[in-house]
Amino acid sequence: MYFKDIHPYVGLRCNEVDKGASPTYFCDMHAAWDSLPEDLKQNVRDEGEVDFTLANFFKRARYPYDVQKPAELRYLRMTRKCKNTICKEDGKGEYAYFSPAYTSSKYYNELNQLLFEDKFVYAHEWKDNDLVVWNNKTISHMRKGTPRHIVRNLVRYAFHEPKQSEDYLTHLPIKYNRDVILNEIKELTFKPFEVKRAPKGNFFRYAKSWLRSEITTIRDDGEIGNVVTQVKSLLDLKDDDFTLNVFNQKANTSVPEHKDISPCAMIIILSNNAAPITFVGHGDMNYKCALLNTQAPHTIKSYIEDRITLKFSIKKDYKSCLESLKLK
Ligand SMILES: [Fe+2]
Repeated sequence: MYFKDIHPYVGLRCNEVDKGASPTYFCDMHAAWDSLPEDLKQNVRDEGEVDFTLANFFKRARYPYDVQKPAELRYLRMTRKCKNTICKEDGKGEYAYFSPAYTSSKYYNELNQLLFEDKFVYAHEWKDNDLVVWNNKTISHMRKGTPRHIVRNLVRYAFHEPKQSEDYLTHLPIKYNRDVILNEIKELTFKPFEVKRAPKGNFFRYAKSWLRSEITTIRDDGEIGNVVTQVKSLLDLKDDDFTLNVFNQKANTSVPEHKDISPCAMIIILSNNAAPITFVGHGDMNYKCALLNTQAPHTIKSYIEDRITLKFSIKKDYKSCLESLKLK
């Protein structure tokens, strides 16, 4: 919390734990904030930004922080600090962004006493192989001391929120039943994707792990037909403006960097779980059903399941499709 931006989601994985190790305590900071007296809430809102510092932690911690060199300690004091508000808001309403270790506030004592009541706290007793993931902004967590001879071996994971950018991808509000589509494509015959003019040895010359089946007949009363009608209307497409394929990127294989042959694509991910698309210079983007700027160089990472997609390869460019979409 001594940085302005913290990871939105964090996880702990328990490798091994012995009896007597401290649980991890999770406090719901939405519920805790809601329970505060109205005048205290208003005072905290009025206080605005306050200091969150590692120096506070050094002063307050009951266990010494393991920094040996005075120069390192000075460096940490200087760099590990930021200003932030204690009252924050997300889609569920206001919550308290407060740490007994790092936060300075005129109302520190009241907040520290009222926010961490037992009724807002869940204590997780660890078992080997547990994985707990939580919203790091709205759930505060702590542990108590564990004697040195007791094993408490946890690994912490911090998750970034993928950056959203309309330059690369736009989610589409298409309605469809994924299971019905999967059923409709069951009988298709797949062949490796091929670009005959690609250089010898190039992945796309004959992509054995990236299979394709073109859908040439579309039944109006089927689920794919239903998707086609919606896509045509949303993006102002005629039958000649696109081709429709199902792709299967086999499990544990990747697709190397490329730009598509067609300028734009609309893709529905049909697999339960799948790798994101990774745009070069931007990063991973997850989606279920989206319009994609396939002229931006991209790759698809490997994943443990087949990545099955229904893909409209569109002859119009991404910008014109986006304009049609925005006029709706
Ligand atoms: Fe592509």
